[in-house]
Formats: sequence, C-alpha cells, structure tokens
Amino acid sequence: MAKIDLELDGHSYAIHIEARLFEDIGRRLAQYASRGALHIITDKDVGAIYTDHFTEQLSVYGISAHFYVLPVGEDAKSWGELEKLTDWLIANQVNRKDTIVALGGGVVGDITGFASAIIKRGCQFVQIPTTLLAQVDSSVGGKTAINSKAGKNLVGAFHQPVAVYIDPDVLKTLPERHMRAGYAEVVKYGLINDERFFDWCYKNSPHILARDPEALEYAIAHSVKAKADIVAQDERETANVRALLNLGHTFAHALEAETGYSDKLFHGEAVALGMILAHDFSAQLGLCSKDDAKRVAEHIAASGLPASLAGLGLTNKGDILFAHMQHDKKRVGDALPFILSRGIGRAFFADNIAAESAKAFLKTAK
Ligand code: NAD
Ligand code: GLY
Repeated sequence: MAKIDLELDGHSYAIHIEARLFEDIGRRLAQYASRGALHIITDKDVGAIYTDHFTEQLSVYGISAHFYVLPVGEDAKSWGELEKLTDWLIANQVNRKDTIVALGGGVVGDITGFASAIIKRGCQFVQIPTTLLAQVDSSVGGKTAINSKAGKNLVGAFHQPVAVYIDPDVLKTLPERHMRAGYAEVVKYGLINDERFFDWCYKNSPHILARDPEALEYAIAHSVKAKADIVAQDERETANVRALLNLGHTFAHALEAETGYSDKLFHGEAVALGMILAHDFSAQLGLCSKDDAKRVAEHIAASGLPASLAGLGLTNKGDILFAHMQHDKKRVGDALPFILSRGIGRAFFADNIAAESAKAFLKTAK
C-alpha cells in the first residue's frame, strides 16, 4: 500500500496504490458524491467487467452514478466521441460540484480528462486507471487529449485529477500484450534517471509480467513516484524537465503514425522500440556507450516487446519515418527535440540535433 502526493501549486493530489482497493471503491467515491453527482466514464470492455461492481459498491452508500461507455481503443480519442461524451454530460446536467470519473486505460483517461477540462469551463475529475500503462504513466500528471487528423494528442489541455486510485489487482484481466506495452513505460523511469531501478527491472521483469503482487506493487509505486517527482518540477513542460518523460517518443510517434495508430503497434510498444532507437542514436552520436545501448535493446526484446524496425517490416523506411517526425508537436524550427542518453539512467533533453543526422540514422537503423 502506498500513497504518493503530487505537490503542485494550488492543486496537489494523492495517488493511492493498494491491492484490492476496488473492494472498497464505494467508500472512496462516496466523498465526491457528497458534493455532487458522479459521472463514470469507461470503455466497453472495462465497463463489462466493472459496471455492476461499482453500482453495487456505490449503492451501499445510497449513491447511484451515471455511467457512459466509450468504444474500445485509440479511435475513441476523437472529436466525434468527445462531442458525444460532452453532449451526454450536458444532458445529465453536469455542474462544477460533480465529479467525473475515468475508469479504464489511457484512452479513457485522456478523453475523459479533456472533457472534464472543457465542460462547463472545467469540472473536477478522478482517475481510476485499469491498465499498467495508465497506472504508471497516463493517469498521473494531468496531460489530457484527443487526436486530430494531423496526429496524436494534438488537441488537449493540462487538467489535473483531484485523486488517482490504483488497484494493481485489476491487471489480472489485462491481456498479456497490453501488460507488456505498459511495462515499457515502467522501464522508461529506470532509463531516464535511475539506473538502480533499471537493474531491478532487468532482474524482476518476469515477476512483474507474471503479475506477482509484490513485484507489481513495487514497480507501480516506484514509477508513480518517479513521475510525480518530475511533474512536480515542471508541470507544464516548460523547463525541459518533464520532457524527459518523452524518452523514445519522437521515434515512437513516427512509428505509430506509420502503423496508423492501430493495434499493429500499441503506444507502449512504440515507446519500447523508440527507447532502443534513442539509445542507438545516442551511441552513434558518441554520447552513450554501445554496451549500454545493447543492454537496453536486450532487455526490451527479452520482455517480449518490439525491438527492431525489421520486426515491424519498417526497415528501409527511414525517409518515411523521418517525414512523420516533422510533425512532432515539440519541433521548433529545423531542430528536432530528442531525449537522448549518456548511458542507462542518464537521459537528457537535446534541442540541437540537426534533422539531417536523425534522417541518416533512421536510414541505417535495423
Ligand atoms: P487503452 O486505454 O486502449 O487500453 C488497452 C485495452 O485494455 C483496451 O482494450 C481496454 O478496454 C482494455 N482494458 C483496460 N483495462 C483492462 C483490464 N483491467 N482488464 C481487461 N482489459 C482492460 O490503452 P492504454 O495502453 O492504457 O493507453 C494508451 C493511451 O494512453 C494512448 O492513447 C496514449 O496516447 C495515452 N497516453 C497518455 C499519457 C498521458 O500522460 N496522458 C501517457 C501515456 C500514454
Ligand atoms: N507521458 C508524458 C508526460 O506525462 O509528460
């Protein structure tokens, strides 16, 4: 059991991590129901598992919540779904005393958070993440968004939740591939600034992926603490600190664009391969040792995550991947923003990488 406080000016909140927390979810949510209505947003698959349980839990406290079910998958982060969701909230007479609850993975959290940010000029919301990726990353830190035709997460807002409730036990039903995709974001914290945590992951990944309760709770709590520390220093990503959380993402977004933001490559999988490419690129630039880059690639491959462009049929597509990178929302002028590495646990923000050297690297990357 852990409670991690994310300290932010005027809107700090707690992230509660506890096995079997869902057994007591009615009591946790009752505190919000005492000031207004509860609007619980989920997706079809998560809703099928948890709607009855939440309804029963809340009924113990005499509370009846409104439920809204999104379609499953990345397509739900669209203008069309946002319109339907906000229309539904308005029809339910949502007001600023109410609480909107995101129950699901990163997709549910991102669109629900964004709807909460804009509805009635901002309503409070609670994150209840049910994928490993959402538990260790997307539910914490207040980035909310939908996708636009031009790319992922291009329309969004910073809007912090008022609390995050994480029950590692709910991962028991998460499909294996999503478990691995979420694990990529766990390893990321070791690679950013914590070599000891990377070493721990290296030894313990089989236990985490097998959902061993102790290993899982430690991995989640450590990751959430790492993320909270970074977000507390640079909430709106203006000081080149929060940008470290984008390790692997400049490559990952290009890979996701090329695979059509589809289930050919989940976000966490793209981040996994993106982190390998970031270390290989760093090694090619003479910034990080080839041994470190090799260790990163070995661990990601051993965790059953995509570890090569070849594995995705994307070799010799350097020009195309590079073209996708031109749309990176963090791009300024001719330089592409990269998070590069001087070694495991030594990631840094590099804003002076000539676009041409990234292009040359991608043309030869395997
Ligand atoms: P997801 O939300 O699509 O969930 C993955 C799948 O798992 C879905 O099919 C869902 O129905 C199912 N699922 C969820 N919980 C389950 C459970 N407990 N048991 C069984 N099935 C379950 O995907 P995701 O990987 O959680 O999130 C990816 C999204 O997160 C992307 O859109 C990405 O851009 C976003 N993201 C946002 C941030 C941020 O800071 N806001 C950070 C990282 C990623
Ligand atoms: N996942 C990147 C961030 O929260 O900043």
